[in-house]
Amino acid sequence: MTTDASWQQASMAELANHIVNTHHAYMYRELPLVESLLTAHLRAHWFKHPELLKAHQLFRQMQTELMQHMIKEETGGFSLLNARAQNPEISIQPFVDYIGQHLKDHASVHELLAQIRAALHDYVLPDDLKSDMESTCDRLRRIEADLAQHIHLEDDILFAKCRQA
Ligand SMILES: [Fe+2]
Ligand SMILES: [Fe+2]
Repeated sequence: MTTDASWQQASMAELANHIVNTHHAYMYRELPLVESLLTAHLRAHWFKHPELLKAHQLFRQMQTELMQHMIKEETGGFSLLNARAQNPEISIQPFVDYIGQHLKDHASVHELLAQIRAALHDYVLPDDLKSDMESTCDRLRRIEADLAQHIHLEDDILFAKCRQA
């Protein structure tokens, strides 16, 4: 596993590309899959477990926000970092100016994941949901953990480097 110390040494473009190839790629695969699982759970259990309506709605909102956020990064700031790696004359100031909005997006997605967790009993499921939903809750836990590392690499290392560049 690559450590924080080695990412501190990497170029901005290398770190941005790692984030896209690892963390964004994971979310593009995982979010539609979990959305379809939650839709199936909703269909099976909503009447007895109305909290699934809330969890499904929150997940759809989180999915939309995170997908749009990743697209903004890839086509905005991160593409600027790749252009700058080829041509040091290119300014990354437009990206630096936008970092505040990226931080707000991160906070919003983080908060939505906390709300999904709360709606689903902190992922300690009632007995009648366990067999159907346990693996979906494992996937939601992994989404949270992956997002935490993803946001750490951006907020604490990449964006900090960009501000100093
Ligand atoms: Fe990202
Ligand atoms: Fe981000």
